[in-house]
Amino acid sequence: MGASGKTTTIRVELGERGYDIVIGAGLLAEAGWHLKPVMPGRRALIVTDRPVAERYLPELEQSLRRAGIEPEHFVLPPGEHTKSFAQLEALLDDLLGVRPGRDATVIALGGGVIGDLAGFAASILLRGVAVVQVPTTLLAQVDSSVGGKTGIDTRHGKNLVGSFHQPHLVLADTAVLDSLPARELCAGYAEVVKYALIDNPPFFDWLEANGAAVLGAGGANRVAAARERAVAACCRAKARVVAADEREGESRALLNLGHTFAHALEAGSGYALRHGDAVALGLTAALRLSERHLGLDPAVREEVVRVLAPRPVAADRGLARAALARDKKARAGRARLVLLEAPGRPLWDVELPAGEVEDELDALLVDS
Ligand code: NAD
Ligand code: GLY
Repeated sequence: MGASGKTTTIRVELGERGYDIVIGAGLLAEAGWHLKPVMPGRRALIVTDRPVAERYLPELEQSLRRAGIEPEHFVLPPGEHTKSFAQLEALLDDLLGVRPGRDATVIALGGGVIGDLAGFAASILLRGVAVVQVPTTLLAQVDSSVGGKTGIDTRHGKNLVGSFHQPHLVLADTAVLDSLPARELCAGYAEVVKYALIDNPPFFDWLEANGAAVLGAGGANRVAAARERAVAACCRAKARVVAADEREGESRALLNLGHTFAHALEAGSGYALRHGDAVALGLTAALRLSERHLGLDPAVREEVVRVLAPRPVAADRGLARAALARDKKARAGRARLVLLEAPGRPLWDVELPAGEVEDELDALLVDS
């Protein structure tokens, strides 16, 4: 149940692949009740990482058992390096080891790393089994658990191997954010700011007054209510974008505001940089370019810098530039970026000279 005693349900309208995002505080204890109707069978294969397992796996398993679902679990090491070929292979091997049928359901319990890896494993296990996302970080609740993008990183770059595999359900228990370290909350908050910028000027204004509560400042009730509202606002925005363009033929690229830079910085840091921290830096670069090319009011970037306080990161300039050049959206010598005319007025296909974009990237990093 939410802080208000209610849950919020948002539908991702994708026809036969459509699903609900259910948001509220305390949902983990009711997980079995929510999952049972969307699971093809009774077997649940929970994929999680160590820190999340220690805190939340027993509660999830108890709830599933109460609903007559048989859970088994697979616990991986935490961190971006888990999104690798090696961990994918080990996970698939372990999953196959318990002899699942095609009616099994993979449950991704964790942040974006677990969601992306477990979602990808589900998409290729026995040629595809169901997945339910149970996101436990702010970043995963507001963004990565919704929309069906799954995948792993390779030495050539981030998320370059993966699939679109929509979940059967997203269950976001906002109470679990209470145990999330402050640095992870801040990283996730960059994606919240992204949604406020691309989707919804009133939400951008609301964040000015309530962002601190989303990050944990203030009384418990205020924090809980602010988190539920922020998660719901982002999921509503993402559900709309994904329903309009599931496979990123065109407008889903809007969700990549700042991400061309973020992915390059992550590669340049050897994936030591948190995705959300990279997004915070990437947003400032995208907003600077938006001022220059689309006349965006500099006050928008000043506000984003105030709330996200991004700092240049130590990264390998050559690796970062190479990743930038390989960006999935680049075309011969021209970079294609999402830029902003004003909050709520993004353009998703702005072509700029690659050199200018590279200069912006350079300004975000210090040599490692
Ligand atoms: P993460 O999954 O690495 O989690 C961060 C850390 O928080 C981990 O150590 C984890 O163990 C810990 N943790 C998780 N929940 C916790 C909780 N409730 N309490 C205490 N600790 C907790 O990081 P992330 O920021 O959630 O995800 C980043 C990943 O998401 C990146 O790989 C990024 O590429 C991906 N991503 C994917 C999409 C998508 O659409 N698929 C979108 C955005 C980002
Ligand atoms: N996070 C980008 C997307 O889902 O398309």
